[in-house]
Amino acid sequence: MSAKAQNTQTAPGFNDWMASGLARTEVMLKQILPSSVGPQAQLHEAMRYAVLEGGKRIRPLLTYAAAELVGADPQVAARAGAAVELIHAYSLVHDDLPCMDNDVLRRGKPTVHIAYGEANAMLVGDSLQPLAFAAIAQLNDSLPSESVVNMVALLAQASGSEGMAGGQAIDLSMVGQKITRPQLEQMHRLKTGALLRCAILMGVWCGQKTPDAHLINAMDGYSRALGLAFQVVDDILDVSADTATLGKTAGKDEQANKPTYVSLLGLDVARKLANDLHDQALDYLASVETDVNWIETRPDTQALRALADVVISRRS
Ligand code: IPE
Ligand code: IPE
Ligand code: MG
Ligand code: MG
Ligand code: MG
Repeated sequence: MSAKAQNTQTAPGFNDWMASGLARTEVMLKQILPSSVGPQAQLHEAMRYAVLEGGKRIRPLLTYAAAELVGADPQVAARAGAAVELIHAYSLVHDDLPCMDNDVLRRGKPTVHIAYGEANAMLVGDSLQPLAFAAIAQLNDSLPSESVVNMVALLAQASGSEGMAGGQAIDLSMVGQKITRPQLEQMHRLKTGALLRCAILMGVWCGQKTPDAHLINAMDGYSRALGLAFQVVDDILDVSADTATLGKTAGKDEQANKPTYVSLLGLDVARKLANDLHDQALDYLASVETDVNWIETRPDTQALRALADVVISRRS
């Protein structure tokens, strides 16, 4: 763990905070997902299989922690967080397809195309994506329209060719290729960083007022650093963790000849980079406390600090 990490994961209250956030996420996802009935019951069942019972839910938790800075209604934050998680779950279903990473195990279960077939796996992605936007549209009952429109724009950009899907395209085009460090960074920022950043910035838009520009800037810096760190750690875990712990096949990157931070820089430099990015993220949080003109009380950034620790010290 980096020099700045203060083991905040064990700080009083964080475990309870996390347990309640995780429970809220499951309730909201179950509420949003269609039940397995009707002529398309099998598709609905596959959507539920892809989303429920598994996953660390780090993106919704980041949304909640950011939303707390602006005093957001937890139910509003839960809906925003669920929308990001739906996009993330869809990205995993497609990432695992034979035409992409060709994986058979995800979140400790057979991947969606193994359990339901490739056509259903494609349709699960096709269906989860609009479901995410529909969930945000519903926030129009609770938030100013400007905030809802901003969330739609953030999620659209983070999901499409300037975000996750674009990063996935670069990932596929780089198999077996020599990659430069800037190219690798761009790929990771897009395929993974963009959606994590979006989860955090959507949280900032969950309050009743337009967020302070300093707050948006500081959270942008935090989320960019953490988003990149997340995929650096994913690369590290691919070579250092086992399949049972990961819930997905270990060693896939090397097997598939994917350029990663570990293959480019080695394990030690990759670990150091993850730690440096973590520290950078914490520096941005410090500026949330000092640079933002908080009219009432200064916000508590403890959950955001603890989640930064989770991102770099996670085991799966
Ligand atoms: C895995 O994401 C894919 C990446 C974007 C690196 P997570 O590690 O968040 O996967 P789950 O949601 O916990 O399964
Ligand atoms: C995933 O990158 C990025 C996504 C957008 C899903 P990886 O291909 O490394 O993710 P895992 O290791 O399969 O979860
Ligand atoms: Mg992939
Ligand atoms: Mg993959
Ligand atoms: Mg990976």
